[in-house]
Amino acid sequence: MASPCSRSRSRDVLSERARRVLGGGAGGHVEEWKALLEAAEHPSVVNLTQGYPDFEGSRKARLEAAEVITRLEHNKLNQYSPLVGLGTLMASITSLYSRLWNMKDLDAKKNVVVTSSGTEAISVAFQTLVSPGDEVILFEPYFPWYGPGVKLAGGEAKLVRLSMEDDFKIDKAKLLEKFNPEKTRLIVVNTPHNPSGRVLTREELEIVHEVASTSRVGCTLFSDEAYEGQCWAPGGHKKVQQEIEQLNEATGSSVEVLSMGTSSKLCSLTGWRVGWLVGPEHIINGCKALHGYSTYCAPTPFQHGIAKALDGFVDLDPAVSFDGTGALMKMNAEKLSAVLRDMGLRVYSPKGGYFVVADCSPLGFTSNMEFCKDLLEKCKVAAAPMNMFFGTPASELSSAEQCLVRFAICKTEPVVDEAISRMRKLIASSSK
Ligand SMILES: Cc1ncc(COP(=O)(O)O)c(C=O)c1O
Repeated sequence: MASPCSRSRSRDVLSERARRVLGGGAGGHVEEWKALLEAAEHPSVVNLTQGYPDFEGSRKARLEAAEVITRLEHNKLNQYSPLVGLGTLMASITSLYSRLWNMKDLDAKKNVVVTSSGTEAISVAFQTLVSPGDEVILFEPYFPWYGPGVKLAGGEAKLVRLSMEDDFKIDKAKLLEKFNPEKTRLIVVNTPHNPSGRVLTREELEIVHEVASTSRVGCTLFSDEAYEGQCWAPGGHKKVQQEIEQLNEATGSSVEVLSMGTSSKLCSLTGWRVGWLVGPEHIINGCKALHGYSTYCAPTPFQHGIAKALDGFVDLDPAVSFDGTGALMKMNAEKLSAVLRDMGLRVYSPKGGYFVVADCSPLGFTSNMEFCKDLLEKCKVAAAPMNMFFGTPASELSSAEQCLVRFAICKTEPVVDEAISRMRKLIASSSK
């Protein structure tokens, strides 16, 4: 007899919301993506699909969390933390931002809420700032959680294509086409950018600021700075909130910024699920309420661990800061980019983040999935086709956009070297 769990049920029991996200989540490419990920997991494959480090992450954080979990006299440290986050972690976040990015005016109690990951922070931020009928600007390609996040908040995503021919730069004319001063409530920026590794320039922030300040309903900038610790652009990572405040002062406008950070990337601990939102008190108050009814609080021992790790970061030099992950990513990016160029792909040079993006159309491919399958078969190296980073259906993308592929570089040097050596062998065998 079939168990109650195996009996097939009609999709009608699902809410309209769940059905909408099931149908269109991650750009509608979920099945293709799942099959590729499954093949990439095989031990013979060098897996460069997903953005998680293959190393264990901050040692300071792990030792502190282990101590908190196992010391008996600390038993309350394994219980709920305050909804808004542990006071020590909130203080560590404001102290880090003040120390490294000169953000002196932050008040841990007023301007910060700790969330259960950056992903929850995005969801909470969208739920807090977007009402049904509101419009949200997403620059595509984008982190695939933004699209469903906007939908779940009842908003409508307005997609603005980053200019591939211009290294994924924001184009003012394209932004103006989609920005509605009466309806756009949120513009989402991400720097360093997943997937392209682009770091927003002052000129691009000026464009976004100028457009947002023409809003008649109040348009907030949501700044996803997940990769703030892995940036090797000249001058390093710039905090968007600080840049926008300078522009507000210079122009007399009052554009507000809500930013997101995460220990997943700052401390290389993607499994711990500790993130945060930083912003003006009235927005953070809304986020605190929504977060309280979402996960209530992030895991307490991990918050202790992250606080310890953040307190140890004292320098922005990529070679030493954030456990040297910025320097590792830069080296991996340069080495991997060189072999991809030698294979004949058009490679975009990242200035930060966890990825290298390349266009396989110069090799004669017409689809990125075709290239990824070919690379997997011939080299046993797995990369990710980028269709799921677009909200626009693949059939409506340009032929070069349909050929974009993403390689994860958040891996140890020997792993990246192994992928490179396999690709070099392929180059050698095809030139014989
Ligand atoms: C741009 C961007 N934002 C947010 C996140 C979410 O981070 P978390 O692991 O904290 O949920 C990621 C994760 O890959 C990301 O790439």
